[in-house]
Amino acid sequence: MNHLIAPSILSADFANLERDIKMINSSTADWFHIDVMDGVFVPNITIGFPVIKRIKKIAKKPLDIHLMIVQPERYTDKFKDAGADILSVHYEAGANLHRTIQSIKTAGMKAGVVINPHTPVSVLEDIIAEVDLVCVMSVNPGFGGQKFIENSYAKIINLKALIDSAKSKALIEVDGGVDNTNAKKLLECGANVLVAGNYIFSSKDPVKTITGLKNL
Ligand code: DX5
Ligand code: ZN
Repeated sequence: MNHLIAPSILSADFANLERDIKMINSSTADWFHIDVMDGVFVPNITIGFPVIKRIKKIAKKPLDIHLMIVQPERYTDKFKDAGADILSVHYEAGANLHRTIQSIKTAGMKAGVVINPHTPVSVLEDIIAEVDLVCVMSVNPGFGGQKFIENSYAKIINLKALIDSAKSKALIEVDGGVDNTNAKKLLECGANVLVAGNYIFSSKDPVKTITGLKNL
């Protein structure tokens, strides 16, 4: 399959959010990547339901929501109501991952699991057949604009092997520090979805930057 591009709106201009959403609508991007942080799971607080609901009204592409919150199972239905199409929770965030994944799917969304840089791919062995997406964090979660962690390439290769051996249909997403210096190699290692925030929104021509990633 062709790879997908998911601009992270964490790096958008929140005072001009409508403008930036329409820019993504008009681009070759595939999804909107939305980072929800609670100040507990990660040392930062971002956006919640009222903002996601407004984004949903303008966005013409699926909302890929990355939850960096503790006990994400408390909120699955509320994220569905707010407009989530893909909902991803951290492996490190809760005890009953299998149940959370099932409830995301039952609510009618695609279900993803995210692993932090210190979490090995091997812990996903017994959940890989159930998930629609695995997101490999290539920075420590919490902030945009951080430096890409080189070990992520090896993790993607391992993850691809696990997905193939389990005959899972899960997509591999990479999140953090993605730019033109690593994107091509990430795709070669097996990534299917590239999240990029700072690289897109700090560029002179974000539409062109998105096209550059899409055409790799
Ligand atoms: C970090 C977030 C990322 C972030 C990526 O915790 O999950 O989605 O916005 O931004 P860049 O591409 O700037 O690293
Ligand atoms: Zn993210």
